[in-house]
Amino acid sequence: MARMGSAFKAVIGALFLCWVAAVPANAQQPTSVNPTAQSVKEQELLKELQRIQGRSSLPDARTRMLEQPAGRDWRQFQQVTLRWTGAIVIVGMLCLLLLFYLIRGMVRIEGGRSGRTLVRFNAFERFVHWMTATCFIVLAVSGLNVTFGKELLTPLLGPETFATWSQFAKYAHNYLSFPFSIGVALMFLMWLAWNLPSGTDVRWIKQGGGIVGKQHPPARRFNAGQKLIYWVVVLGGGAAAVTGYLLMFPFYATDVTGMQTAQMIHGIVGVLFIAIMLAHIYIGTIGMQGAFEAMGRGEVDVNWARQHHSLWLEKEIRKGRASDGTVAPAE
Ligand code: HEM
Repeated sequence: MARMGSAFKAVIGALFLCWVAAVPANAQQPTSVNPTAQSVKEQELLKELQRIQGRSSLPDARTRMLEQPAGRDWRQFQQVTLRWTGAIVIVGMLCLLLLFYLIRGMVRIEGGRSGRTLVRFNAFERFVHWMTATCFIVLAVSGLNVTFGKELLTPLLGPETFATWSQFAKYAHNYLSFPFSIGVALMFLMWLAWNLPSGTDVRWIKQGGGIVGKQHPPARRFNAGQKLIYWVVVLGGGAAAVTGYLLMFPFYATDVTGMQTAQMIHGIVGVLFIAIMLAHIYIGTIGMQGAFEAMGRGEVDVNWARQHHSLWLEKEIRKGRASDGTVAPAE
């Protein structure tokens, strides 16, 4: 009896094994998923790259993003768009200034120098100007190195020297941003009163500012062109500083999307700022006779002041700070 029982169990076991072997694998799945049929084609997967994001499990929400489509747009901007537009804007401005110089030449003091001078900028104003200008030039060169250096300088310097120079330039860019920002803030405060728009500016612009054409429209201490430079420095400098500090202290105030936006604004403001300051440097040096001494010695010739800032000169004469050359009648 016991032998019959174990033979029966063996038959049942054998039948069960045959059934397991005969049943197809997918029939054992409760939902009958076919992974091959469900998988997407490679091309479809690539299309999804425009949408796919990858996040890490870091507790800080701002630093979590690892992979995002906007990163590819940003890279395209950084490596292609900014390089091309930046090169066109800056080289274009240099070409325009060269052309302008060849056509117009230096704007000379009509009737020559009078030999009498008046104070245009005091020592503090000149200190702030040159501190800001020196920082700006280093910031501009080191900033351009970030955008163009690798392509332009590596073939000339070799990778090792380029890396050493770039590290030095990066430190200079970071540290000089502080005195530059202070300089912009001081310029804003010390020259604001003379840079608010007025009716004189409209007349000055209509007459081409005396640079285009032969007329010399009246102007106060700063003409409309200089007011434009002032506001470019204040607003451009402010925007460059805010976006620059967001990049210098990553993830403190914003996430990766905010930093990409900050970098794009920093790049665009940077190249426009450089192009506009090239025009300012042109006018302050070879473009206009007698201009440099305003920021150099702090004094300008009375004839220069009459030609370019007649309303300001009249006021300075009324205040007794300048002489128009006429001898006061004896009492
Ligand atoms: C080598 C570079 C530079 C030179 C030769 C230069 C020259 C001058 C001169 C001569 C003036 C006085 C103009 C006048 O008396 O009417 C001036 C004014 C001024 N500069 Fe500069 N500058 C330079 C760079 C800069 C930079 C980099 C900035 C700012 C980032 C700057 C901002 C200003 C401002 C706001 C004024 C007052 C408004 C104006 O006159 O346009 N300068 N500069």
